Amino acid sequence: MRDKTVFICQSCGARYPKWMGRCSSCGEWNSLVEEIEEEASPGGLAFAPAEPVLYKDIKDIPRRRFAVGIEDVNKVLGGGLVAGSLVLVGGEPGIGKSTLLLQVARDMAAADAPVLYVSGEESLEQIKLRGDRLGVRNGRLFLLAETNLERILAQAERVAPKVLVIDSIQTVFSAKMTSGPGTISQVREAANQVFRFAKSRQIPAFLVGHITKEGSLAGPKSLEHIVDVVLLFEGERDHSHRVLRAMKNRFGPVSELAVFEMTASGLQPILNPSAFFLRERPRGEPGSAVVCTVKGTRPLLAEIQALVSSTLFSGNPRRMTIGLDHYRTAMLLALVEKKAGYSFAGEDIYINVAGGMSIDEPAVDLGVVMAVVSSLKNMPLPQDMAFFGEVGLSGEIRSVGQPLVRIKEAQALGFGTVLAPAGNLAALDRKEIPAIECWGAGTVREALQRVF
Ligand code: TYD
Ligand code: MG
Repeated sequence: MRDKTVFICQSCGARYPKWMGRCSSCGEWNSLVEEIEEEASPGGLAFAPAEPVLYKDIKDIPRRRFAVGIEDVNKVLGGGLVAGSLVLVGGEPGIGKSTLLLQVARDMAAADAPVLYVSGEESLEQIKLRGDRLGVRNGRLFLLAETNLERILAQAERVAPKVLVIDSIQTVFSAKMTSGPGTISQVREAANQVFRFAKSRQIPAFLVGHITKEGSLAGPKSLEHIVDVVLLFEGERDHSHRVLRAMKNRFGPVSELAVFEMTASGLQPILNPSAFFLRERPRGEPGSAVVCTVKGTRPLLAEIQALVSSTLFSGNPRRMTIGLDHYRTAMLLALVEKKAGYSFAGEDIYINVAGGMSIDEPAVDLGVVMAVVSSLKNMPLPQDMAFFGEVGLSGEIRSVGQPLVRIKEAQALGFGTVLAPAGNLAALDRKEIPAIECWGAGTVREALQRVF
């Protein structure tokens, strides 16, 4: 076995024989770290040479699933935690990953299943402080403060927990490798070892992975293909809501999502996210439009807020967006000027999604247009009206996916009217939405005329 030195980009995992200031694969600066490349160890498992098998002879494996305490987390997992699966939970530092997993551990341990929660980041006393806030009862929750992966797995072997949690993958290291904790080679080796452990003992394991602001799982990015499930835990630090969603799931769809509120006693599931995001909506104020958006398969009503105000000094008017795509919004503004005859010259425009949510689907275009024009004209939109529809460059309103789901959600939240793409409404079965009026519009001009 010959070791050789390589330089590995800690952001994307690209490898180079020589150091460079910038990774030519992902463009990140200063991300190359020298690592000793060990020859891939066969991992102690001797594989029999594989033979081709006829498709019809392959047996179905019955999949055992456990319910974790929080119902919405089960949904995100595709119907519970699969025995022997490896789940990576990624999120920015401080977003609440340790809190979420300690709650999961708490609930499973309370059901008298032994759970092993390993932390390489905090002392047992610190974890206990958090546990006290979360109301951890004694149960059979074992805590272990350890970073040596081989020792962690030896303890896991002893305890034989129903679930293993390792918080975080960046702090553990395998003694088999010389590179430091948190480097790509270590993170990969650790994930591979835990994966083999989980599969051979049929013990499901959660790995916590910190991700950088840019959204890449620094180091853990290269784990996405190793693990069975990747969950992302997201939210704005200054806002209390958090969203958990699956980015990859070998055992289920990736469409479900769970919304939580971070409270003084941990994460509380928000059972009605639409009501949550609309709860502080101002009454009768110009510049506020409710949009029907869909995240995964879940409909979500959100409030778009726009503020159009004259530029104080004769300089460049400001255009600011929070929670929406900046370029797309700029395009919509240009389009409203050209196709609907409004002028934003000399106006600053601020657009925001209330509650710190971010939306990245074009179906909110119509709502953005409505909020901006409402603020410009200083005229509130009808209080009980919701909007959805993609706006195209000729000012046409284009159909979007899942119109019925969107309208039903607006109906459920008590909205009286929805303004939607005419194309969507043509193909709709009205029987399921008797309590809401549907207005269709084919162009932005038509939609604006209808409302104002
Ligand atoms: P934490 O789970 O430590 O984040 P991560 O593991 O992703 O780094 O949670 C971080 C924040 O959550 C911290 O700023 C404190 C806050 N928090 C609450 O507001 N309520 C609680 O009950 C707990 C445990 C934490
Ligand atoms: Mg943590």
